[in-house]
Amino acid sequence: MPPHENRVAFQTECTPPGHTHALHPTVTETHVITTTGLTKVYRSRGREVTALDGVDLHVREGEVYGVIGQSGAGKSSLIRCVNLLEKPTAGTVTVAGQDLTALSGRGPRAGRELRQARSRIGMVFQHFNLLSTRTVQDNVELPLEILGTSGKERSRKALELLDLVGLADKAKAYPAQLSGGQKQRVGIARALAGDPKVLLSDEATSALDPETTRSILQLLRDLNRQLGLTVLLITHEMDVVKNVCDSAALMENGRIVESGTVSELLATPGSELAAALFPVGGEATGDDRTVVDVTFHGEAATQPVISQLSRTYNIDISILGAAIDTVGGLQVGRMRIELPGRYEDNVVPIGFLREQGLQIDVLGQEPVLLKEGAK
Ligand SMILES: Nc1ncnc2c1ncn2[C@@H]1O[C@H](COP(=O)(O)OP(=O)(O)OP(=O)(O)O)[C@@H](O)[C@H]1O
Ligand SMILES: [Mg+2]
Repeated sequence: MPPHENRVAFQTECTPPGHTHALHPTVTETHVITTTGLTKVYRSRGREVTALDGVDLHVREGEVYGVIGQSGAGKSSLIRCVNLLEKPTAGTVTVAGQDLTALSGRGPRAGRELRQARSRIGMVFQHFNLLSTRTVQDNVELPLEILGTSGKERSRKALELLDLVGLADKAKAYPAQLSGGQKQRVGIARALAGDPKVLLSDEATSALDPETTRSILQLLRDLNRQLGLTVLLITHEMDVVKNVCDSAALMENGRIVESGTVSELLATPGSELAAALFPVGGEATGDDRTVVDVTFHGEAATQPVISQLSRTYNIDISILGAAIDTVGGLQVGRMRIELPGRYEDNVVPIGFLREQGLQIDVLGQEPVLLKEGAK
């Protein structure tokens, strides 16, 4: 099945009627979010914590970019520095061509410009951050009030956005009357009020059940497609990256240690992100064995290659594990095979596999690392 067929089916199922989609967003080569040497040191009670340690991030226009990493890796600090909710200790942040760090450095007089620049950045929070005393519509209108939009225009815009997120009938409800998923839809509508070019999302789905998570992710993906919105999302869930992201970065100890488009990552030998996105199990059955992960993309199939390998070199090959999945809209397969003998005995058959254009990772052999942090 071509990789996009899945997606078409899923979209038809989850898309509110009346909205059309371009299947492939035009991701351009323009960087809409750039950070250079972004550093954040928190100082509290005489202690210093370096939450960001020189982060260079490049998010292209129109893509969904996922940042993943363990708790404390610096993900929230990164996203809060990108919209200057948190002032970076060093480095620069440029969003949609505007150097936000330069604006914030100019003191109180830059306040208005910074506010306007921020209105071009929507933010979605894990715990929704809705005002409980305001109706759904009034919550969505809040950023427009701050921007000084007229009452009539605010109301028109809020209703349009609520329709976009599938909540047209909840305009007069209060947050307490909504489910978690509905609250997050309001949070997303509010984030879109200033017609942002960029949407930042910090664990927007981690307070939601898996079903609701899927529908919120699909909404973010739809908005990305429909509005050409660039989305930077933070998550600790691999499934999120797998289902919606075009590109991803892995953070460890305040640094980006791997980054790239999902397909680049999958094609990078030794990529931790690729292994986490696409795990295949299976242990060597003995010491005197070579275990090889064979990854193939799109139309390629391993089956004939494996039997050819077996016939050509007259060796018995065991399949330890295999998986096929759609990652970032691309069909990917991975198979873990075992060859008799040690690596030294299998250099020629492994060379044969590589010649077939398959991506080969030999377990226990040092991969050619393409990690950014390893530079
Ligand atoms: N306001 C703060 N004051 C002091 N230290 C902080 C502050 N905010 C974050 N930190 C520290 O900075 C480091 C990075 O925190 P951050 O919240 O960015 O991590 P995270 O990757 O978002 O983690 P999680 O997945 O748990 O949300 C942590 O060691 C954290 O304790
Ligand atoms: Mg966090």
